[in-house]
Amino acid sequence: MKLKILVGTMTNTAEYVAQAIQMDCADLVGEIEVQLMDGLDIGVFDEDALFLVCTSTYGAGDVPDNARALYESLDAQPKFLGHVRYGVIALGDSGSHQQTFAYGGRKFDERLQGLGAVRVGELCILDASTGTVPEAEGTAWCREWLALATADVRSG
Ligand SMILES: Cc1cc2nc3c(=O)[nH]c(=O)nc-3n(C[C@H](O)[C@H](O)[C@H](O)COP(=O)(O)O)c2cc1C
Repeated sequence: MKLKILVGTMTNTAEYVAQAIQMDCADLVGEIEVQLMDGLDIGVFDEDALFLVCTSTYGAGDVPDNARALYESLDAQPKFLGHVRYGVIALGDSGSHQQTFAYGGRKFDERLQGLGAVRVGELCILDASTGTVPEAEGTAWCREWLALATADVRSG
């Protein structure tokens, strides 16, 4: 199975998290590809892969600039995504943005679910105000998440 990590980022934190996962979780899945969301649209979900949306939050609860085209295409060019299994890593800062905390990832989750895609597990929320290392936290979460996702496939 291939894991495709789609990265929405402004200042690269989400990308570092994705790269850490790519290195640390290589033993758990056949292949891991990290792709920035720049220039993507809903067609990216045509690929036969397990998807991980890894995105930060900007503005007032918006997706980052490089994620906007993909996010908007989920609305502008909707299609049934029932074949898609995905997870979400949502980066944000609850200290400075309490009202819109981690909305970037939450918004992707809402839209993907609306199109019939199936989320595996719970969201991973990485909060910049906790002082933890996002790469370490994201990687630890992803190891458990991949165990769940691959068990799902084996059982049916
Ligand atoms: C201008 C600006 C706006 C932000 N807006 C939000 C927000 O609305 N909600 C939130 O949870 N975090 C917000 N954040 C925090 C970022 O999402 C957080 O720092 C994240 O780790 C950045 O990841 P990145 O480097 O991958 O872009 C904002 C940060 C900046 C600089």
